[in-house]
Amino acid sequence: MRLKKGAKIGISVFVGIIFLSLGIYSFVKIKEQKEYEKTYEYQLTTLGYSLDSAKKLVKIYKNEELAYLLKQEKDDIYIDISQADYFIYDKFYDYINYYKENKDKGIKDIVEIVNTNNNHEYYTETKETDLSKGNLILVNKYNYLPNDYVPDNLVTISLDYAYGELGSQKVTKETYDAFLSMWRASHENGYYLMVNSSYRNYQEQEETYNDYANANGTSYADTIAARPGYSEHQTGLTIDVFEQGTGQKNFASTPSYQWLKENAHKYGFIERYPIDKVDITGYDYESWHYRYVGIEAATYIYEHNITFDEYYAYFVK
Ligand code: DAL
Ligand code: ZN
Repeated sequence: MRLKKGAKIGISVFVGIIFLSLGIYSFVKIKEQKEYEKTYEYQLTTLGYSLDSAKKLVKIYKNEELAYLLKQEKDDIYIDISQADYFIYDKFYDYINYYKENKDKGIKDIVEIVNTNNNHEYYTETKETDLSKGNLILVNKYNYLPNDYVPDNLVTISLDYAYGELGSQKVTKETYDAFLSMWRASHENGYYLMVNSSYRNYQEQEETYNDYANANGTSYADTIAARPGYSEHQTGLTIDVFEQGTGQKNFASTPSYQWLKENAHKYGFIERYPIDKVDITGYDYESWHYRYVGIEAATYIYEHNITFDEYYAYFVK
């Protein structure tokens, strides 16, 4: 059967359109594929990441870090570390550099160590602390106070609660008010807290440190005393306490310590150098040393069992 000329033209046009459409479709698809191959998502899959992981990485990291990842071997650490508690994006390279040198460390440790500067030797990479942080000033083996720093609202602790001569024990007004509330509550429970040491100026801290260093060497001194300028005692936010009638050194074995451990945060104080945080704080266990940080920070630190150093890195800085 012979088709009419019109029908033949119609079929040719139809077939032509089909081919043209297929051509355009393929062209668009190839172009799309070429564009896709330029993306971080695709390029990460060529390193061995699954599509799912590549998508995650692209969501987590910005271009600079993604470009860095493309130059590294595939490693799940890059996803895992970003999910860790207290992961700080700006510390990404510090985490990774530390990880590469310390493959035996877990992710939690890496974040904890880097956030608290413990990837550096004590008293290296030091800087003047940010004095604008008020009750949340950080003073540790990496952050110091100016030699002449004196808190501007020091008040004298009554000898009802302090050891020594009148006027020798001072803290900031806010610290004192909080201490008095805490003292009364502890007293209602049958305890009698006494302040053994509080504000110490730079020179007094120097004497304290040198006494230990001269007696037993600097390595020992560094485990129990801060070098001048590096002591929280110079902030006026710190008290060393003991239970009346017992020595400071025995404080850990007293019921008043147990009470303080569980209740100090309600008044804005934290146990600053706990027994299980020596590697982070850089100081031996000091059951007696309490730091005022305010109720909000103290409660968080207590409930999450972290140090002030970690809290500061994540929430304050
Ligand atoms: N004993 C504490 C660490 C100080 O000297 O500040
Ligand atoms: Zn102390």
